[in-house]
Amino acid sequence: MSRFKRVLIFLGTLAAVFVAAVGGLFLTQWTGAQVSTAGQVEFRNALKVPPLARSTVEKDGTRVFDLRMQAGTTEFEAGKQTPTWGFNGSYLGPTLRAARGEKVKVRVANGLDEASGVHWHGMHVPARMDGGPHQEVGAGKTWTPYWKVDQPAATLWYHPHPHGRSETHVQRGLAGMFLVDDAKAGALRLPKRYGVDDVPVVVQDVSFDGAEFDHGKGFLQSTGFLGERTMVNGTLDPYQVVGDELVRLRLLNASTARIYDFGFSDDRGFALIGTDGGLLEKPETLRRVQLSTGERAEVVVRMRAGEKTVLRSFPQDNYGDGWQRRFGGGDDSFDVLELRAQQTLRKSGPLPDVLTKLEVPDGKDSARGRYFGLKMSGINGRKMDMGRVDETVTRGTSETWTVRNEDGVPHNFHVHDVQFRVLEVDGRPPQAALRGAKDTVFVPGGSTVKLAMRFDGPADPSTPYMYHCHLLYHEDQGMMGQFVVVEKGQTSSVKAGGEHGGH
Ligand code: C2O
Ligand code: CU
Ligand code: CU
Repeated sequence: MSRFKRVLIFLGTLAAVFVAAVGGLFLTQWTGAQVSTAGQVEFRNALKVPPLARSTVEKDGTRVFDLRMQAGTTEFEAGKQTPTWGFNGSYLGPTLRAARGEKVKVRVANGLDEASGVHWHGMHVPARMDGGPHQEVGAGKTWTPYWKVDQPAATLWYHPHPHGRSETHVQRGLAGMFLVDDAKAGALRLPKRYGVDDVPVVVQDVSFDGAEFDHGKGFLQSTGFLGERTMVNGTLDPYQVVGDELVRLRLLNASTARIYDFGFSDDRGFALIGTDGGLLEKPETLRRVQLSTGERAEVVVRMRAGEKTVLRSFPQDNYGDGWQRRFGGGDDSFDVLELRAQQTLRKSGPLPDVLTKLEVPDGKDSARGRYFGLKMSGINGRKMDMGRVDETVTRGTSETWTVRNEDGVPHNFHVHDVQFRVLEVDGRPPQAALRGAKDTVFVPGGSTVKLAMRFDGPADPSTPYMYHCHLLYHEDQGMMGQFVVVEKGQTSSVKAGGEHGGH
Protein backbone atom coordinates (compact mmCIF):
# COMPACT_ATOMS: atom_id res chain seq x y z
CA MET A 1 0.00 0.00 0.00
CA SER A 2 1.28 3.37 -0.84
CA ARG A 3 1.95 5.76 1.95
CA PHE A 4 -0.67 8.06 0.47
CA LYS A 5 -3.29 5.33 0.70
CA ARG A 6 -2.40 4.55 4.32
CA VAL A 7 -2.74 8.21 5.25
CA LEU A 8 -6.11 8.31 3.51
CA ILE A 9 -7.38 5.23 5.37
CA PHE A 10 -6.13 6.67 8.64
CA LEU A 11 -7.83 10.01 8.06
CA GLY A 12 -11.00 8.28 6.89
CA THR A 13 -11.14 6.17 10.05
CA LEU A 14 -10.53 9.23 12.17
CA ALA A 15 -13.39 11.07 10.47
CA ALA A 16 -15.72 8.07 10.85
CA VAL A 17 -14.91 7.73 14.55
CA PHE A 18 -15.48 11.45 15.01
CA VAL A 19 -18.83 11.39 13.22
CA ALA A 20 -19.91 8.30 15.20
CA ALA A 21 -18.87 9.93 18.47
CA VAL A 22 -20.70 13.17 17.73
CA GLY A 23 -23.72 11.27 16.45
CA GLY A 24 -23.72 9.04 19.53
CA LEU A 25 -23.39 12.01 21.83
CA PHE A 26 -26.22 13.75 20.05
CA LEU A 27 -28.40 10.63 20.22
CA THR A 28 -27.84 10.27 23.98
CA GLN A 29 -28.58 13.95 24.42
CA TRP A 30 -31.71 13.68 22.29
CA THR A 31 -33.09 10.61 24.07
CA GLY A 32 -31.92 11.75 27.48
CA ALA A 33 -33.57 15.13 27.05
CA GLN A 34 -37.04 13.63 27.23
CA VAL A 35 -38.24 13.05 30.78
CA SER A 36 -41.46 11.50 31.96
CA THR A 37 -42.79 10.54 35.35
CA ALA A 38 -46.26 9.71 33.98
CA GLY A 39 -47.52 6.44 35.40
CA GLN A 40 -44.40 6.01 37.50
CA VAL A 41 -45.01 8.02 40.62
CA GLU A 42 -45.90 6.39 43.93
CA PHE A 43 -47.88 9.09 45.66
CA ARG A 44 -46.52 8.69 49.15
CA ASN A 45 -46.79 12.11 50.71
CA ALA A 46 -49.88 13.99 51.85
CA LEU A 47 -49.94 17.34 50.07
CA LYS A 48 -48.70 20.17 52.25
CA VAL A 49 -50.95 23.21 52.07
CA PRO A 50 -49.23 26.56 52.66
CA PRO A 51 -50.71 28.15 55.80
CA LEU A 52 -52.80 31.30 55.48
CA ALA A 53 -50.63 34.22 56.56
CA ARG A 54 -51.66 35.80 59.83
CA SER A 55 -52.43 39.48 59.70
CA THR A 56 -53.34 42.29 62.05
CA VAL A 57 -55.63 45.20 61.28
CA GLU A 58 -54.53 48.73 62.12
CA LYS A 59 -56.92 51.44 63.36
CA ASP A 60 -57.47 52.81 59.86
CA GLY A 61 -58.37 49.35 58.62
CA THR A 62 -55.02 48.51 57.00
CA ARG A 63 -54.34 44.80 57.00
CA VAL A 64 -50.70 44.12 57.91
CA PHE A 65 -48.70 41.03 57.01
CA ASP A 66 -45.17 40.00 57.92
CA LEU A 67 -42.92 38.17 55.49
CA ARG A 68 -39.42 37.21 56.52
CA MET A 69 -37.04 35.79 53.94
CA GLN A 70 -34.80 33.22 55.52
CA ALA A 71 -32.38 30.43 54.76
CA GLY A 72 -32.94 26.95 56.17
CA THR A 73 -33.09 23.31 55.24
CA THR A 74 -36.02 21.23 54.06
CA GLU A 75 -36.56 17.48 54.21
CA PHE A 76 -38.15 16.72 50.84
CA GLU A 77 -37.16 13.07 51.11
CA ALA A 78 -37.05 11.25 54.45
CA GLY A 79 -33.69 11.68 56.12
CA LYS A 80 -32.24 14.10 53.56
CA GLN A 81 -31.88 17.78 54.32
CA THR A 82 -31.66 20.19 51.38
CA PRO A 83 -30.56 23.81 51.88
CA THR A 84 -33.48 26.04 50.87
CA TRP A 85 -34.93 29.52 51.25
CA GLY A 86 -38.43 30.47 52.29
CA PHE A 87 -40.74 33.13 53.69
CA ASN A 88 -41.54 32.63 57.41
CA GLY A 89 -40.24 29.08 57.04
CA SER A 90 -37.63 27.11 55.18
CA TYR A 91 -39.41 26.65 51.83
CA LEU A 92 -42.05 28.66 49.93
CA GLY A 93 -44.26 31.10 51.85
CA PRO A 94 -47.67 31.45 53.46
CA THR A 95 -50.74 32.38 51.41
CA LEU A 96 -51.62 36.05 51.80
CA ARG A 97 -55.29 36.88 51.48
CA ALA A 98 -57.05 40.24 51.26
CA ALA A 99 -60.29 41.58 49.85
CA ARG A 100 -60.90 44.12 47.12
CA GLY A 101 -61.10 47.57 48.68
CA GLU A 102 -58.85 46.70 51.62
CA LYS A 103 -55.68 48.59 52.38
CA VAL A 104 -52.76 46.24 52.89
CA LYS A 105 -49.23 46.62 54.14
CA VAL A 106 -46.52 43.97 54.11
CA ARG A 107 -43.45 44.19 56.31
CA VAL A 108 -40.83 42.41 54.23
CA ALA A 109 -37.71 41.51 56.22
CA ASN A 110 -34.68 40.14 54.42
CA GLY A 111 -32.98 37.65 56.72
CA LEU A 112 -30.76 36.33 53.93
CA ASP A 113 -27.17 37.38 53.49
CA GLU A 114 -27.78 38.89 50.09
CA ALA A 115 -30.16 41.45 48.59
CA SER A 116 -33.49 40.15 47.35
CA GLY A 117 -37.02 41.54 47.23
CA VAL A 118 -40.68 40.71 46.86
CA HIS A 119 -42.74 41.45 43.77
CA TRP A 120 -46.54 41.13 43.82
CA HIS A 121 -47.13 39.33 40.54
CA GLY A 122 -50.48 40.25 38.99
CA MET A 123 -51.26 42.97 41.53
CA HIS A 124 -52.30 46.46 40.53
CA VAL A 125 -49.91 48.52 42.70
CA PRO A 126 -48.14 51.88 42.63
CA ALA A 127 -44.73 51.50 40.95
CA ARG A 128 -42.82 52.17 44.18
CA MET A 129 -44.64 49.26 45.87
CA ASP A 130 -44.20 46.80 43.00
CA GLY A 131 -41.11 45.02 44.32
CA GLY A 132 -39.26 44.91 41.03
CA PRO A 133 -35.51 45.41 40.60
CA HIS A 134 -35.84 49.06 41.69
CA GLN A 135 -37.08 48.00 45.13
CA GLU A 136 -34.49 45.42 46.16
CA VAL A 137 -34.29 44.81 49.87
CA GLY A 138 -30.72 44.61 51.17
CA ALA A 139 -29.51 41.83 53.48
CA GLY A 140 -30.77 42.50 57.00
CA LYS A 141 -33.07 45.29 55.79
CA THR A 142 -36.84 45.65 55.81
CA TRP A 143 -39.16 47.22 53.25
CA THR A 144 -42.79 48.00 53.91
CA PRO A 145 -44.89 48.50 50.80
CA TYR A 146 -48.56 49.40 51.16
CA TRP A 147 -51.41 49.82 48.72
CA LYS A 148 -55.15 49.51 48.33
CA VAL A 149 -56.32 46.29 46.73
CA ASP A 150 -58.40 47.35 43.75
CA GLN A 151 -59.01 44.46 41.38
CA PRO A 152 -61.30 41.44 41.05
CA ALA A 153 -60.90 38.23 43.05
CA ALA A 154 -57.88 36.35 41.71
CA THR A 155 -55.05 33.94 42.39
CA LEU A 156 -51.90 36.08 42.41
CA TRP A 157 -48.46 35.28 43.73
CA TYR A 158 -45.32 36.85 45.11
CA HIS A 159 -41.64 36.16 44.49
CA PRO A 160 -38.27 37.97 44.46
CA HIS A 161 -37.22 40.03 41.45
CA PRO A 162 -33.57 41.02 42.10
CA HIS A 163 -31.80 42.27 39.00
CA GLY A 164 -30.18 39.30 37.24
CA ARG A 165 -30.82 36.83 40.07
CA SER A 166 -34.51 35.96 39.98
CA GLU A 167 -33.98 32.38 38.80
CA THR A 168 -31.94 31.19 41.77
CA HIS A 169 -34.01 33.10 44.33
CA VAL A 170 -37.26 31.56 43.15
CA GLN A 171 -35.75 28.13 42.65
CA ARG A 172 -34.42 28.03 46.19
CA GLY A 173 -37.97 28.41 47.43
CA LEU A 174 -38.96 32.07 47.57
CA ALA A 175 -42.53 32.05 46.27
CA GLY A 176 -46.05 32.15 47.67
CA MET A 177 -49.65 32.86 46.74
CA PHE A 178 -51.62 36.06 47.25
CA LEU A 179 -55.37 35.52 46.97
CA VAL A 180 -57.63 38.46 46.31
CA ASP A 181 -61.30 38.07 47.31
CA ASP A 182 -64.27 40.17 46.36
CA ALA A 183 -67.89 40.22 47.44
CA LYS A 184 -69.33 39.17 44.06
CA ALA A 185 -67.01 36.18 43.74
CA GLY A 186 -67.61 35.32 47.39
CA ALA A 187 -71.36 35.08 46.75
CA LEU A 188 -70.95 32.56 43.91
CA ARG A 189 -71.53 28.89 44.59
CA LEU A 190 -67.92 27.81 44.07
CA PRO A 191 -65.75 25.56 46.25
CA LYS A 192 -64.10 27.97 48.67
CA ARG A 193 -62.88 26.16 51.80
CA TYR A 194 -59.12 26.79 51.74
CA GLY A 195 -57.13 23.59 51.78
CA VAL A 196 -60.31 21.47 51.76
CA ASP A 197 -62.16 21.95 48.48
CA ASP A 198 -60.19 25.02 47.36
CA VAL A 199 -56.60 23.92 47.15
CA PRO A 200 -53.47 25.90 46.21
CA VAL A 201 -51.30 23.90 43.80
CA VAL A 202 -47.86 25.49 43.45
CA VAL A 203 -46.03 23.43 40.82
CA GLN A 204 -42.26 23.43 40.51
CA ASP A 205 -39.87 21.12 38.73
CA VAL A 206 -36.78 19.97 40.56
CA SER A 207 -33.74 17.91 40.05
CA PHE A 208 -31.75 16.94 43.07
CA ASP A 209 -30.03 14.12 44.84
CA GLY A 210 -31.84 14.91 48.07
CA ALA A 211 -29.00 16.86 49.59
CA GLU A 212 -28.66 19.52 46.95
CA PHE A 213 -30.63 21.18 44.19
CA ASP A 214 -29.13 20.76 40.78
CA HIS A 215 -29.03 24.05 38.92
CA GLY A 216 -27.44 22.64 35.76
CA LYS A 217 -28.62 23.39 32.23
CA GLY A 218 -28.49 20.94 29.35
CA PHE A 219 -26.01 22.36 26.87
CA LEU A 220 -28.31 21.93 23.86
CA GLN A 221 -31.17 23.97 25.28
CA SER A 222 -31.61 27.62 26.06
CA THR A 223 -34.82 27.68 28.09
CA GLY A 224 -33.08 27.58 31.47
CA PHE A 225 -33.29 25.03 34.27
CA LEU A 226 -35.49 21.99 33.58
CA GLY A 227 -35.96 19.49 36.41
CA GLU A 228 -36.74 15.83 36.04
CA ARG A 229 -39.57 15.60 38.57
CA THR A 230 -42.19 17.89 40.04
CA MET A 231 -43.28 19.01 43.48
CA VAL A 232 -46.51 20.63 44.60
CA ASN A 233 -46.34 23.10 47.50
CA GLY A 234 -42.88 21.70 48.20
CA THR A 235 -44.24 18.12 48.48
CA LEU A 236 -42.68 15.39 46.37
CA ASP A 237 -45.01 12.63 45.07
CA PRO A 238 -48.06 14.26 46.64
CA TYR A 239 -51.63 13.10 47.12
CA GLN A 240 -54.63 15.05 48.33
CA VAL A 241 -57.62 13.40 49.97
CA VAL A 242 -60.85 14.88 48.62
CA GLY A 243 -64.09 14.91 50.63
CA ASP A 244 -66.28 16.89 48.23
CA GLU A 245 -67.72 16.13 44.81
CA LEU A 246 -66.25 19.34 43.41
CA VAL A 247 -62.70 20.39 44.15
CA ARG A 248 -61.17 23.64 43.00
CA LEU A 249 -57.47 23.66 42.24
CA ARG A 250 -55.62 26.96 42.05
CA LEU A 251 -52.78 26.03 39.72
CA LEU A 252 -49.66 28.17 39.74
CA ASN A 253 -46.70 27.43 37.52
CA ALA A 254 -43.93 28.58 39.87
CA SER A 255 -41.22 26.80 37.91
CA THR A 256 -38.43 28.92 36.55
CA ALA A 257 -38.51 27.69 32.94
CA ARG A 258 -40.77 24.67 32.55
CA ILE A 259 -44.10 24.97 30.77
CA TYR A 260 -46.90 22.53 31.64
CA ASP A 261 -49.99 21.34 29.85
CA PHE A 262 -52.27 20.20 32.67
CA GLY A 263 -55.05 17.66 32.41
CA PHE A 264 -56.00 14.44 34.16
CA SER A 265 -54.55 10.96 33.68
CA ASP A 266 -57.96 9.54 32.69
CA ASP A 267 -58.51 12.47 30.34
CA ARG A 268 -61.61 13.64 32.18
CA GLY A 269 -62.88 17.12 31.47
CA PHE A 270 -62.75 19.85 34.07
CA ALA A 271 -64.15 23.34 34.35
CA LEU A 272 -61.76 26.22 33.88
CA ILE A 273 -63.19 29.03 36.02
CA GLY A 274 -60.33 31.49 36.28
CA THR A 275 -57.08 32.69 34.73
CA ASP A 276 -54.26 34.95 36.00
CA GLY A 277 -56.39 37.97 36.79
CA GLY A 278 -59.55 36.31 38.10
CA LEU A 279 -62.72 34.53 37.12
CA LEU A 280 -63.79 33.90 33.53
CA GLU A 281 -67.18 35.18 32.41
CA LYS A 282 -68.42 31.59 32.46
CA PRO A 283 -66.92 28.16 33.22
CA GLU A 284 -65.32 26.43 30.21
CA THR A 285 -65.13 22.65 30.00
CA LEU A 286 -61.63 21.66 28.93
CA ARG A 287 -59.30 18.68 28.95
CA ARG A 288 -56.07 20.62 28.99
CA VAL A 289 -54.87 23.94 30.25
CA GLN A 290 -51.37 25.06 29.35
CA LEU A 291 -49.49 27.22 31.83
CA SER A 292 -46.16 28.79 31.09
CA THR A 293 -44.03 30.06 33.95
CA GLY A 294 -45.84 32.51 36.21
CA GLU A 295 -49.32 31.79 34.83
CA ARG A 296 -52.26 30.61 36.96
CA ALA A 297 -55.48 28.76 36.29
CA GLU A 298 -58.38 27.93 38.57
CA VAL A 299 -60.00 24.64 37.65
CA VAL A 300 -62.87 22.71 39.21
CA VAL A 301 -62.86 18.94 38.88
CA ARG A 302 -65.73 16.60 39.72
CA MET A 303 -64.89 13.46 41.71
CA ARG A 304 -66.88 10.26 42.28
CA ALA A 305 -66.79 8.52 45.64
CA GLY A 306 -63.79 6.23 46.13
CA GLU A 307 -62.02 7.05 42.87
CA LYS A 308 -58.55 8.38 42.17
CA THR A 309 -57.25 10.55 39.40
CA VAL A 310 -53.93 12.20 38.73
CA LEU A 311 -53.25 15.76 37.70
CA ARG A 312 -50.80 15.24 34.86
CA SER A 313 -48.76 17.46 32.58
CA PHE A 314 -48.88 16.20 28.99
CA PRO A 315 -46.52 16.64 26.01
CA GLN A 316 -47.16 19.86 24.11
CA ASP A 317 -47.54 20.31 20.39
CA ASN A 318 -47.47 24.11 20.13
CA TYR A 319 -43.94 24.40 21.37
CA GLY A 320 -42.04 25.54 18.34
CA ASP A 321 -39.85 23.25 16.26
CA GLY A 322 -38.78 19.69 17.11
CA TRP A 323 -35.49 20.83 18.58
CA GLN A 324 -37.08 23.31 21.00
CA ARG A 325 -39.77 20.80 21.87
CA ARG A 326 -37.28 18.10 22.74
CA PHE A 327 -34.61 20.18 24.48
CA GLY A 328 -36.96 22.79 25.93
CA GLY A 329 -39.24 20.33 27.73
CA GLY A 330 -42.17 20.17 25.30
CA ASP A 331 -42.00 16.38 24.93
CA ASP A 332 -41.98 15.79 28.70
CA SER A 333 -44.79 14.56 30.92
CA PHE A 334 -45.26 14.51 34.68
CA ASP A 335 -47.61 13.02 37.21
CA VAL A 336 -48.09 16.03 39.42
CA LEU A 337 -50.72 15.32 42.10
CA GLU A 338 -53.02 12.42 42.90
CA LEU A 339 -56.56 13.20 44.02
CA ARG A 340 -58.08 10.50 46.25
CA ALA A 341 -61.80 10.71 46.80
CA GLN A 342 -63.18 9.42 50.07
CA GLN A 343 -65.79 6.64 50.13
CA THR A 344 -68.55 9.16 50.71
CA LEU A 345 -68.42 12.70 49.40
CA ARG A 346 -70.22 15.86 50.41
CA LYS A 347 -72.65 16.86 47.66
CA SER A 348 -71.67 19.87 45.56
CA GLY A 349 -74.25 21.67 43.46
CA PRO A 350 -73.67 22.59 39.80
CA LEU A 351 -71.32 25.45 39.01
CA PRO A 352 -72.91 28.83 38.29
CA ASP A 353 -73.53 29.53 34.59
CA VAL A 354 -72.23 33.07 34.87
CA LEU A 355 -69.19 33.97 36.96
CA THR A 356 -68.34 37.59 36.31
CA LYS A 357 -67.99 40.39 33.80
CA LEU A 358 -64.39 40.92 32.64
CA GLU A 359 -62.86 44.27 33.53
CA VAL A 360 -60.02 44.14 30.99
CA PRO A 361 -60.37 46.39 27.92
CA ASP A 362 -61.35 44.92 24.56
CA GLY A 363 -58.94 46.93 22.42
CA LYS A 364 -61.58 49.21 20.88
CA ASP A 365 -60.54 52.20 22.99
CA SER A 366 -56.79 51.71 22.59
CA ALA A 367 -55.00 55.07 22.32
CA ARG A 368 -51.98 53.50 20.67
CA GLY A 369 -50.12 50.32 19.81
CA ARG A 370 -46.62 49.12 20.63
CA TYR A 371 -44.51 46.27 19.32
CA PHE A 372 -42.31 43.91 21.33
CA GLY A 373 -40.00 41.50 19.52
CA LEU A 374 -38.80 38.72 21.80
CA LYS A 375 -35.31 37.30 21.42
CA MET A 376 -32.87 35.75 23.89
CA SER A 377 -30.58 38.68 23.14
CA GLY A 378 -33.19 41.17 24.34
CA ILE A 379 -36.60 42.68 23.69
CA ASN A 380 -36.70 44.90 20.59
CA GLY A 381 -32.98 44.30 20.28
CA ARG A 382 -32.12 45.76 23.69
CA LYS A 383 -31.07 44.16 26.93
CA MET A 384 -32.55 45.35 30.21
CA ASP A 385 -30.99 48.57 31.50
CA MET A 386 -32.08 49.86 34.90
CA GLY A 387 -31.41 53.44 33.80
CA ARG A 388 -33.30 53.35 30.50
CA VAL A 389 -37.05 53.81 30.15
CA ASP A 390 -38.22 51.86 27.14
CA GLU A 391 -41.86 52.92 27.04
CA THR A 392 -43.78 55.84 28.48
CA VAL A 393 -47.53 55.36 28.77
CA THR A 394 -50.21 57.86 29.70
CA ARG A 395 -52.24 57.22 32.80
CA GLY A 396 -55.89 56.46 32.14
CA THR A 397 -55.40 55.17 28.59
CA SER A 398 -55.68 51.74 27.01
CA GLU A 399 -53.10 50.37 24.59
CA THR A 400 -52.70 47.38 22.30
CA TRP A 401 -49.38 45.58 22.60
CA THR A 402 -48.25 43.19 19.88
CA VAL A 403 -45.70 40.64 21.05
CA ARG A 404 -43.87 38.35 18.67
CA ASN A 405 -41.46 35.49 19.30
CA GLU A 406 -38.62 36.30 16.92
CA ASP A 407 -36.08 33.58 17.66
CA GLY A 408 -38.04 30.34 18.09
CA VAL A 409 -36.90 29.71 21.67
CA PRO A 410 -39.92 29.32 24.01
CA HIS A 411 -40.75 32.66 25.63
CA ASN A 412 -43.65 34.19 27.43
CA PHE A 413 -44.55 37.79 28.18
CA HIS A 414 -45.50 39.31 31.51
CA VAL A 415 -46.50 42.90 32.23
CA HIS A 416 -46.39 44.35 35.73
CA ASP A 417 -49.26 46.31 37.29
CA VAL A 418 -51.94 45.40 34.74
CA GLN A 419 -54.16 42.58 33.61
CA PHE A 420 -54.70 42.30 29.87
CA ARG A 421 -57.07 40.69 27.43
CA VAL A 422 -55.59 38.49 24.73
CA LEU A 423 -57.20 39.86 21.56
CA GLU A 424 -55.51 37.59 19.04
CA VAL A 425 -53.10 34.71 18.74
CA ASP A 426 -51.59 34.60 15.27
CA GLY A 427 -54.41 36.73 13.90
CA ARG A 428 -57.20 34.58 15.30
CA PRO A 429 -59.35 34.94 18.43
CA PRO A 430 -57.75 33.09 21.36
CA GLN A 431 -58.89 29.67 22.52
CA ALA A 432 -61.00 29.37 25.68
CA ALA A 433 -58.10 29.18 28.14
CA LEU A 434 -56.87 32.62 27.06
CA ARG A 435 -60.21 34.40 27.20
CA GLY A 436 -59.88 35.70 30.75
CA ALA A 437 -57.86 38.43 32.43
CA LYS A 438 -54.16 37.66 32.00
CA ASP A 439 -50.86 39.13 33.13
CA THR A 440 -48.62 36.51 31.53
CA VAL A 441 -49.02 34.74 28.20
CA PHE A 442 -47.10 32.01 26.42
CA VAL A 443 -45.55 33.14 23.12
CA PRO A 444 -44.21 29.99 21.45
CA GLY A 445 -41.71 30.05 18.58
CA GLY A 446 -43.00 31.92 15.54
CA SER A 447 -46.19 33.15 17.17
CA THR A 448 -47.61 36.61 17.73
CA VAL A 449 -50.08 37.72 20.38
CA LYS A 450 -52.05 40.95 20.60
CA LEU A 451 -52.90 42.23 24.07
CA ALA A 452 -55.17 45.03 25.28
CA MET A 453 -54.50 46.65 28.64
CA ARG A 454 -55.40 49.77 30.51
CA PHE A 455 -53.02 51.82 32.66
CA ASP A 456 -54.99 53.19 35.55
CA GLY A 457 -52.10 54.67 37.43
CA PRO A 458 -51.19 56.29 39.72
CA ALA A 459 -48.64 58.10 37.57
CA ASP A 460 -45.02 58.03 38.74
CA PRO A 461 -42.52 59.32 36.17
CA SER A 462 -39.52 58.34 38.31
CA THR A 463 -40.27 54.68 39.01
CA PRO A 464 -40.64 52.13 36.23
CA TYR A 465 -42.60 48.92 36.03
CA MET A 466 -41.23 45.89 34.19
CA TYR A 467 -42.34 43.80 31.27
CA HIS A 468 -40.35 40.67 30.56
CA CYS A 469 -40.08 37.05 29.59
CA HIS A 470 -41.01 35.04 32.70
CA LEU A 471 -38.64 32.20 31.89
CA LEU A 472 -36.43 33.42 34.69
CA TYR A 473 -33.13 32.51 33.05
CA HIS A 474 -34.14 34.70 30.10
CA GLU A 475 -35.29 37.51 32.40
CA ASP A 476 -31.96 37.36 34.24
CA GLN A 477 -30.12 37.43 30.91
CA GLY A 478 -31.81 40.73 30.10
CA MET A 479 -35.11 39.87 28.36
CA MET A 480 -36.78 42.68 30.26
CA GLY A 481 -37.76 46.28 29.65
CA GLN A 482 -39.14 49.17 31.69
CA PHE A 483 -42.18 51.39 31.32
CA VAL A 484 -43.37 54.34 33.31
CA VAL A 485 -46.92 55.57 33.72
CA VAL A 486 -47.12 59.37 33.51
CA GLU A 487 -49.76 62.05 33.41
CA LYS A 488 -50.47 63.33 29.92
CA GLY A 489 -47.50 65.41 28.70
CA GLN A 490 -45.14 64.39 31.54
CA THR A 491 -41.72 62.89 30.77
CA SER A 492 -39.92 60.18 32.68
CA SER A 493 -37.07 60.74 35.10
CA VAL A 494 -35.71 57.34 36.10
CA LYS A 495 -32.33 56.89 37.74
CA ALA A 496 -30.30 53.73 37.20
CA GLY A 497 -29.76 52.92 40.84
CA GLY A 498 -33.39 52.74 41.91
CA GLU A 499 -34.11 53.83 45.48
CA HIS A 500 -32.73 50.78 47.23
CA GLY A 501 -35.44 49.73 49.62
CA GLY A 502 -34.98 49.29 53.29
CA HIS A 503 -33.69 51.17 56.23
CU1 C2O B 1 -43.59 37.25 38.30
CU2 C2O B 1 -41.74 40.54 36.86
O1 C2O B 1 -42.63 38.88 37.65
CU1 CU C 1 -45.02 40.53 37.87
CU1 CU D 1 -37.79 33.83 27.13
